Amino acid sequence: MTDPPRVVVARAAAKINLYLGVGAPRADGFHPLTTVYQAISLYDDLTARAGSEHPGWTVAVRVAPYVDAAALPAAGENIVDRAAAALAAHHGRVPTGRVEVVKQIPVAGGLAGGSADAAAALVALDALWELGSPVDVLRELAADLGSDVPFALVGGTALGTGRGERVDPVVDSATWWWVVVPSAVGLSTPAVYRHFDALFPQASSTPAPADELLAALATRDPVRLAVALHNDLQAPALDLRPDLAVVLERGEAAGALRGLVSGSGPTCLFLCASEAAAVAVAAELRAVHPVALVAHGPVPGAGLVTSAVAGP
Ligand code: C5P
Repeated sequence: MTDPPRVVVARAAAKINLYLGVGAPRADGFHPLTTVYQAISLYDDLTARAGSEHPGWTVAVRVAPYVDAAALPAAGENIVDRAAAALAAHHGRVPTGRVEVVKQIPVAGGLAGGSADAAAALVALDALWELGSPVDVLRELAADLGSDVPFALVGGTALGTGRGERVDPVVDSATWWWVVVPSAVGLSTPAVYRHFDALFPQASSTPAPADELLAALATRDPVRLAVALHNDLQAPALDLRPDLAVVLERGEAAGALRGLVSGSGPTCLFLCASEAAAVAVAAELRAVHPVALVAHGPVPGAGLVTSAVAGP
């Protein structure tokens, strides 16, 4: 008897950091963070197929035209492979199936695209393999896969602590409008953290709290939020990539309330007063930057889009 083909589709959002406070490195080399994450409407989609015609395990990746495909990990070394191996091992089985990832989130862009893929893989494969893992198990596996992966599961707006893997949802009832300007060439997250250490050798072991950002968020006023946006990795990112300062200036000159580097960069983000303002800023930026995307947040974390037995 042959198994019927089954298909599961999961979608996971990009993350931005409205606030990113970084402390001096810990003994394990990771930096303590106080961060406010937001999931925005820029997505990677993951389709997982099982059935007799997919007896082994394969991962294929397709990317949007603006995504730097050269920065993708080699076949077999994708974070999706690691997520599958971790989930399978937890349940005492081996990974099976065919996974296709369609990436709209830039690679090595400071938007946690890899973390989104890992979260989507956990959700999709848990359904495909009919494991029914408790949420706590998925979150533990997520934290082992990367600092941002638990947030990719949770989504919305959330306070992140520890190395970023401890996530507490924050009430955020507004819709915030962003313009996202990816860079043609990615930036290495470890390199940006190392440069932070070089620039700030006296950094405190405790990152500064996010109180002002959280208060601004509660006002639902983009002008207030714009003032409170903060990223401790912006200085090292701009030092490594001085071209980004020009991008930030251009977006603000085009009418954005505030520009900032996303996470460890090099993607630049612009908070705008409304959807119409974001569309106008993106249009103006496209005169110089081929890609300027309009996105809104918060949006939900990784979840299933469909789960179906393929047709006859
Ligand atoms: O946790 P993740 O694998 O995403 O981290 C990638 C790299 O980013 C780490 O190896 C480390 O160099 C740096 N990092 C850090 N402190 C954090 C998160 C990441 O130094 N809190």
